[in-house]
Amino acid sequence: MQPKRIAAALVAGFTALALAACSGGTGSTGGTQQQPEKVFRLAFNQTEQHPQYKAAVQLGADLKKATNGRYSIEVYPNEQLGTQADVVTNVSNGTIEMMYIGGPVMESFNQDFIVFNLPYMFDSQEAQAAVFADDAVMGSLKKSVESSKHITVLAALHAGVRNVYNADKAIKTPADLAGLKIRVQQSDSQVKMIQAMGAVASPMSQGEVYAALQSGVLDGAENNETVFNALKHDEVAKFYSYTRHLMIPDYLLINSDALAAMSDADRKAFLDLIPGTVKAANTGFLEFAATSKAASEKAGAKFNDDVDTAAFKALVTPLVKASISNDVRQKLYDAVQKANAANPKK
Ligand code: GCU
Repeated sequence: MQPKRIAAALVAGFTALALAACSGGTGSTGGTQQQPEKVFRLAFNQTEQHPQYKAAVQLGADLKKATNGRYSIEVYPNEQLGTQADVVTNVSNGTIEMMYIGGPVMESFNQDFIVFNLPYMFDSQEAQAAVFADDAVMGSLKKSVESSKHITVLAALHAGVRNVYNADKAIKTPADLAGLKIRVQQSDSQVKMIQAMGAVASPMSQGEVYAALQSGVLDGAENNETVFNALKHDEVAKFYSYTRHLMIPDYLLINSDALAAMSDADRKAFLDLIPGTVKAANTGFLEFAATSKAASEKAGAKFNDDVDTAAFKALVTPLVKASISNDVRQKLYDAVQKANAANPKK
């Protein structure tokens, strides 16, 4: 953990202790027993400008109101509480209650999450939204790590379309990407994907990418326009090429025991707020991606849309086929194909 993060974690810990002390156990007022306020800590690895951050802050305010002050949420942006791979362990053991997590990191808990993390899976954002809104498709996947890891998946969110960027040149064909060292998220599917596309995979957490690009340890990375701009990757890898290889979800997680500890009425009030949170985050994302792109362009980044995406798709097709290796994944895959047919590329 970096010193900044340790400090933040300590402050957060002290705040939680202070709140618990202030609430004095049962904190009765005027003869009526009041439950002490419980603050869910929500870890986030991106900036305060991100619509997921804003939606989570709003969720906290709405939750406080809906539960008469019994629950609220404190959002910690910028990887303050640690990398996603570390934080998810803490959500599992209950020391942090909530987080946003990139889909690939969930594969370490249940490999079936892989389906939505595969390249060229969704044809459109509408197709992705249709799948995520369908509880018949998503229900058991979302509950799949409750008893084993004490993690409840509250929602799947749109997290943009990912493209390759690098320091030296526009990527137009697989030959341009061949041999470049590209950062991917920490999961097997992402490593295999970038290898199939011809690059050398370097899995690491998001917070380490800028320095690695700057020092030349990495030739490039792959992400949406918001990360490219907000984390200043556009300063050190200014060629952004529309390979459009991924549309991976983020998930909103909560520790299952924290959720179970709520009264039925408070839990219902909380869960009723989640669709609005998802809608706000998803709508805000599209605008954020557009303004991020414009800001990067203004700062001198070069966006290239002359990419042979069919050639990249052909390279990763065997990986996609090999990954749909059991009935659960086949069912999820079929649901995606159905949604793609109903919501084709525009
Ligand atoms: C996106 C995504 C994050 C993920 C990050 C990454 O920003 O929304 O959840 O952690 O990419 O590439 O690490």
